[in-house]
Amino acid sequence: MASSAELQERRIAAVPRGVANATAIYAARAKNAELWDEEGKRYIDFGAGIAVVNTGHQHPKIVAAVEEQLKAFSHVCFQVTPYETYVRLAERLNAIAPVPGLAKTLFLSTGAEAVENAVKVARAFTSRPGIVSFSGGFHGRTLMGMALTGKVVPYKKGFGPFPPEVYNVMFPNEYHGVTGAQSLAALNALFKHQADPSSIAAIVIEPVQGEGGFYLAPFDFLRALRKLCDEHGILLIADEIQTGFARTGKMFGLEHAGVEADVVTLAKGLAGGLPLSAITGRADVMDAANPGGLGGTYAGNPVACAAAHAVLDVIEEEKLCDRANAIGEIIMSRCEELTSRSNLNCIGHVRGLGAMCAVELVKDTASHEPSPQITQAVMKVANEKGLILLSCGTYGNVIRFLVPLTASDALVREGMDIFEASLTEAVTRVA
Ligand SMILES: Cc1ncc(COP(=O)(O)O)c(C=O)c1O
Repeated sequence: MASSAELQERRIAAVPRGVANATAIYAARAKNAELWDEEGKRYIDFGAGIAVVNTGHQHPKIVAAVEEQLKAFSHVCFQVTPYETYVRLAERLNAIAPVPGLAKTLFLSTGAEAVENAVKVARAFTSRPGIVSFSGGFHGRTLMGMALTGKVVPYKKGFGPFPPEVYNVMFPNEYHGVTGAQSLAALNALFKHQADPSSIAAIVIEPVQGEGGFYLAPFDFLRALRKLCDEHGILLIADEIQTGFARTGKMFGLEHAGVEADVVTLAKGLAGGLPLSAITGRADVMDAANPGGLGGTYAGNPVACAAAHAVLDVIEEEKLCDRANAIGEIIMSRCEELTSRSNLNCIGHVRGLGAMCAVELVKDTASHEPSPQITQAVMKVANEKGLILLSCGTYGNVIRFLVPLTASDALVREGMDIFEASLTEAVTRVA
């Protein structure tokens, strides 16, 4: 058996440094919200493969669905010989996505690909070139994904030029001094100074920013955005790749604001760990692209579609939206409790929607000055103590909690105990 240190050495020699290396934990097996490394050490997984296994690792129903499909066929290419599972999955998403009227769904493989295709259908439908996105937003690592992404390092630096006709405005982030009204004013200024609204095909927004730092778009801001889009014939694209599939306590993040999008991008939690993404949108928008203009060799892989059916069943049967709210309450109340501890004067902000929760760590609560140092130290100590945590945020100073929604209360509490111990130790290590 290779040690983690040996594997890490081999990785460094074999894999480019551009692939982030958040931990040196080499996964050997995982079950629900726990994971064991190559050396047999157990971890509680508060990362869920970056919000993918909302339904837990190796859920028996998902494993069974995958096994059954694998025995039938694993690939035929939907464009060549279609299969019922794809069509039925489209029907299921059309019925539940926050999209008005008749909807249609296209399947792809990755989140970035979903974003690319949302832009394609928006442009085909409107015959307009412009796309607006927000500071701090993350939409993937393809060229259009990077263009839309509102964080330069590490996602954009050195990778340009990017596709033209992409405009980035301030996301309403009250903790960092940007109100919803200011963000709307920035949009209106964009329409005055840079691009006429009649040239804008779509505005792309995450209802809760993921990589950007778990900032919630205020619900009234989302409603105002919808209104602005309607006034100018602009499509609203909700990037629900991280917020989707019960994570926020509702099936989709947009539902909290009572807003519908023209197109939603979906991935991550959709297929419980199998690579599958989708865009679900208004039927007229989705049908604007020419036959053959959408798709891909692996897009809507049958094994991934089978997994997604099982995921949707599990979310419903195990009431995972309710579980997200219950888990969120445990995490949020624990973090709020920690803010009152005088030796932990580093929790600048606690926020969340359902089980999409985060703490923003600062040098001291008076200055709000970000502390990526404490954040990195917390993650390192947590790993030593058997907890996998993820960071995020423009300044790399946010710890996000993304525990599978199938985790028991006891396991979530055990993880939070380790988080508290790690934070306490990290503060003294950094001091
Ligand atoms: C909101 C959002 N959009 C797009 C993406 C890109 O997805 P992928 O990494 O599957 O390409 C991500 C990934 O983290 C995401 O969180």
